[in-house]
Amino acid sequence: MKQHLCISILLTILISSLNAQQAIPSSESIKNKMQWFADAKLGIFIHWGIYSVKGVGESWSFHNKWIPYSEYMSQLKGFTGAKYDPQAWADLIKQSGARYAVITTKHHDGVALWNTKASDLNVVKKTPFKKDAIAPFFAALRKDSIKCGAYFSLLDWSNPDYPGFLKDSSRYTISQNPTRWKKFLQFNNLQMSEIMQQYRPDLIWFDGDWEHNAAEWEASDVRKMLLSYNPELIINGRLTGYGDYETPEQNFPVSRPAYKWWELCMTTNDSWGFQPTDTAWKSPYEVITIFVDAVANGGNLLLDIGPRADGSIPREQINILKELGDWNKRNGESIFGTLPGLASGHFYGPTTLSKDSTTLYLFLHGRTNGQIMLKGIRNNIKGVSVVGTNASLSYKVVGKISWSPIPGLVYIDVPESQNDKYVTVVKVKLDGPIHLYRGKGGLSE
Ligand code: GLC
Repeated sequence: MKQHLCISILLTILISSLNAQQAIPSSESIKNKMQWFADAKLGIFIHWGIYSVKGVGESWSFHNKWIPYSEYMSQLKGFTGAKYDPQAWADLIKQSGARYAVITTKHHDGVALWNTKASDLNVVKKTPFKKDAIAPFFAALRKDSIKCGAYFSLLDWSNPDYPGFLKDSSRYTISQNPTRWKKFLQFNNLQMSEIMQQYRPDLIWFDGDWEHNAAEWEASDVRKMLLSYNPELIINGRLTGYGDYETPEQNFPVSRPAYKWWELCMTTNDSWGFQPTDTAWKSPYEVITIFVDAVANGGNLLLDIGPRADGSIPREQINILKELGDWNKRNGESIFGTLPGLASGHFYGPTTLSKDSTTLYLFLHGRTNGQIMLKGIRNNIKGVSVVGTNASLSYKVVGKISWSPIPGLVYIDVPESQNDKYVTVVKVKLDGPIHLYRGKGGLSE
């Protein structure tokens, strides 16, 4: 009996893992649709919602009982969008160098930023703004050739048919009332179909999947439904594993992540939405070095801004985006459309490679005055220059032994006068696709 039970449990696990494998595509099969994302490197994340009225934590402030739910919802009255200028937002995003943007269409508080038919809880029906925030923004982004992403919280703490509400109270459990849960899923599906039909996003950015498992979310069906509207749609990983790429949040990978596509989402201070008391701004230098680090390790950066309730963007965030954009203007050739750089050991810093692997870019953090060193490059070098200024740099190959096949060390002179305001990029032109030596220096290698 026991044995039968074990076998049938094993079979169930096997079948469900086979099903999951069928539902989640291999990297190879989605390679084409992921190409623009792989080339894009930089996206801007926008958290805009009623939480910006009082400048409290997005959704979490009532969920964690920092403020009462009624007080949180009273912010609906103050959401004016009076200075909302979607074209100015899109232009600023363009100026930053970003290739895509992701906006919160609905956060965990359940307040939709479009006129959803699924519920009255939306900024058109319930706030003095009275308008759809998404349509004009996507139109402006498209005018600027920026890809459009829709953030959508799967969990919805305001919906009466959603189980979760405050951190220590919930409405019901799914096992007690599966019909009520089905009703919630239908509501969510309706909202997702509205987004797909009305706004045709290039990317959907789920959040809040952690409260339920893939079977409860019916994640495989959600994926199928979304792709039936647009087979090219990119889906982030927060659909209990049914997405296309991983999204580490606020934490910086130290070793290169194993997954094929990933994106680090990060705030400009410590908050996603507008919070005037949070002055922990990251400096442009910090943002740029983090950006470079992500790209060198094969990832993208999704950098967040949180506009005020009137739609204006805090000056510190505008400044970060502009400085980042100026740096990208000078150095973008080493970032956009590149491949992840070298494994550690060849250069003490981040690197990227041109798509054909014949150009190596070296990123110098901090100010450099003197020689930098490259190891294990078998190619002949055709020339070395500074990306921002095009100035050519002198270099020499040290320690190349005539009888040994092991390459020498390349020392490149970087005068301080050639330093970028933030991060200097050195371009090494090779005589062909990069060919590395990764041995231990032994005679027989
Ligand atoms: C988290 C938070 C949420 C925020 C998101 C952005 O999952 O729940 O408030 O919007 O991260 O990545």
